[in-house]
Amino acid sequence: MPKVAIILGSTRPGRNGEAVARWVFEIANKRTDAEFELVDINDYDLPLLDEAVPPSMGQYSKPHTKRWAAKIASFDGFVFVTPEYNHSTSAALKNAIDFLFAEWNNKAAGFVSYGSAMGVRAVEHLRLIMAELMIADVRAQVMLSLATDFENYSVFKPSVGKENTVTMMLDQVIEWSDAMKSVRTHNVAVAT
Ligand SMILES: Cc1cc2nc3c(=O)[nH]c(=O)nc-3n(C[C@H](O)[C@H](O)[C@H](O)COP(=O)(O)O)c2cc1C
Repeated sequence: MPKVAIILGSTRPGRNGEAVARWVFEIANKRTDAEFELVDINDYDLPLLDEAVPPSMGQYSKPHTKRWAAKIASFDGFVFVTPEYNHSTSAALKNAIDFLFAEWNNKAAGFVSYGSAMGVRAVEHLRLIMAELMIADVRAQVMLSLATDFENYSVFKPSVGKENTVTMMLDQVIEWSDAMKSVRTHNVAVAT
């Protein structure tokens, strides 16, 4: 069974992202076709990227990098839960992504976004980043509006039908997470 991380990509005190990520995790956790874990980047105490060697070289030197790398390496796929900050994702999520390379490669990802404009521009930026990391990003996407999926822009109350969009996105992430295992197996076979 594929292992999928639901990555909580905002670290702001009072963040809306926590309720969103927990909601996604609760929906996902009812499924029997994959295992899920909620991964909060706040728990990994990552400073701004402080590795001297580019992550694509795989020479991690810092304990926080090694711990983050071990966690991400353990998954076959990802669901990025992202806010939209200034028409992009959060700096915290971009930084956490930038720390690693091989641990992301040849896996699958889907997105859950929220914001005044439902976070769609944050996800468009993330899709460009996925290409560089060789992550296969699925089409189905969960988009949440601060105006209609939150009360007072702060209390998460997803509107009718949003849960279905999570299910559609997870269906695709699970299928592609499973499929990408064969790419990784093939690459290992070619290298040996
Ligand atoms: C620095 C900053 C920039 C923002 N820029 C945008 C934006 O460009 N577009 C948008 O739709 N919402 C924007 N927002 C609103 C956020 O998407 C909204 O506050 C969201 O709840 C932030 O996620 P968080 O609560 O998990 O930190 C911005 C919020 C912050 C704090």
